[in-house]
Amino acid sequence: MSSLIPSEERPPSTPGSAETGEGLLMNGDKPTGVSLKRDVGLIGGIAIIVGTMIGSGIFASPRGLLEASGSSGMALIIWAICGVLAVCGAMAYAELGTMIPTSGGEYTYIREAFGSLPAFLYAWTACIVIKPSQLAIICLIFGEYIVTPFFPDCTMRSDIQHIIKLLAAFAIAVITVVNCLSVKLAARVQVFFTAAKLLALALIIITGIVRLCQGYTTELDGANSFTGTATVGEIGLIGQAFYNGLWAYDGWNNLNYISEEVHNPNKNIPRAIGIGIPLVTIVYLLTNIAYFAVLSKEEIIEGGAVAVLFANKMFGVMAWIIPVFVACSTFGAANGSALSSGRVFYAASRNGELPKFMAMIHNSRFTPVPGLIVQHLASFIAWLMLIPESSSFSTLIDYFTFASWVFYGATIAGLLYMRFSKPNAERPFRVFLVFPVIIILAALYLIIAPFSQNPLPSFFCLLFIFFGVPVYFIFIYYDLSPKWLDNGIARFTFWLQKFGDISYPESAED
Ligand code: ARG
Repeated sequence: MSSLIPSEERPPSTPGSAETGEGLLMNGDKPTGVSLKRDVGLIGGIAIIVGTMIGSGIFASPRGLLEASGSSGMALIIWAICGVLAVCGAMAYAELGTMIPTSGGEYTYIREAFGSLPAFLYAWTACIVIKPSQLAIICLIFGEYIVTPFFPDCTMRSDIQHIIKLLAAFAIAVITVVNCLSVKLAARVQVFFTAAKLLALALIIITGIVRLCQGYTTELDGANSFTGTATVGEIGLIGQAFYNGLWAYDGWNNLNYISEEVHNPNKNIPRAIGIGIPLVTIVYLLTNIAYFAVLSKEEIIEGGAVAVLFANKMFGVMAWIIPVFVACSTFGAANGSALSSGRVFYAASRNGELPKFMAMIHNSRFTPVPGLIVQHLASFIAWLMLIPESSSFSTLIDYFTFASWVFYGATIAGLLYMRFSKPNAERPFRVFLVFPVIIILAALYLIIAPFSQNPLPSFFCLLFIFFGVPVYFIFIYYDLSPKWLDNGIARFTFWLQKFGDISYPESAED
């Protein structure tokens, strides 16, 4: 394997494994070589996919998706299409992951296909937009689900919004502290929260099935279910609906990050994707059908947290149980996202495209200091993102989805490009070309559609991505960084080595 550190010494910054705690090298453990063996089998792979995809979206996206799509029927269709897109994307990533088994995810594939500058632009955007907005979004939903049971009818009020944001900021702080104290603790937290979210969804789905059997099908009746559907001309609205849906499915690429730790990857990766993502799609569809069996379209659009409305109507005195489980689910997803940030930055710093100190690991704990440092940075930016009055689930989703899909599209364009530029490279798994083509078309649509409806977030994102170009040339290509900055980084690195008990892994220094 072409990773820069021997596999026994690789730090536990693997996104997929980190998000589920599987295959993790624990804080304080000696790297025995056992923990990073190829020990993720088919079931493990499915668990990683399901565990990382289900988080906040299924409890937060239905409202925005329904509002934009205009009808329950169209909303369900969009939920299903998002599932198909996730399968197509993940299948294409399976080819990349088995062809280029190096850490770094999108960063590594874009670098392999298009070179250093585009790869830097990805690392730069991931560091400052994608990862922080991910954390901020999930924590906002955490705050909303904690607050809504106490103020069921007034979550839109600005003072309540402030409380939600304070809780979100608090969650970000707790997650950062937990992750710094111990990766082991963070991984344990993960297992507990995964169970909580599955329980919440099972409760909602079973209740929905019972309601349907009792004949509550108004929102799902043939003709009724499509009244109000957004027209084809309202391209931006449909794009907005997809933005909400795709957030709930995000994480489909995560198994790919740990392709090196999957047993028999050429078979198990495609299989785990083929089983895991359709499973999540079915769970999401059933959950939405359950929402519609209990709540009307208007109730979902006008209300705040959909699962709280659902619970208040169905569970009486036990209604508190759902928001508690949802808060656990979102907290787990945020914890997983924070745990997973490391590998991209780690790989980028090894290649000299981010400061070198990010590639250092702790001498005895073997924890990924780069991951931790970047995590602090991402947490800090996530805090900043919560400050503007206008920042909310839907505005942050606009930034996140636009930036992510620019790079999902670029990564998969890289796959197609490499089919021509490296026709003889070994490809243990070759994806059927229709899948990447569908993703590229979807990415183009998702990048262009928001410009017709709400262009500002996409415009700022683009500006930001391109702002990385001069940064790249000044600091990396021509290395013109001012002396004081170089000295500062050198002093910081020295300080880390001296007091932080960390150093470069053997092969990083050459
Ligand atoms: N789908 C998740 C949710 O609904 C968000 C996943 C964020 N992305 C990730 N790679 N962890 O909360």
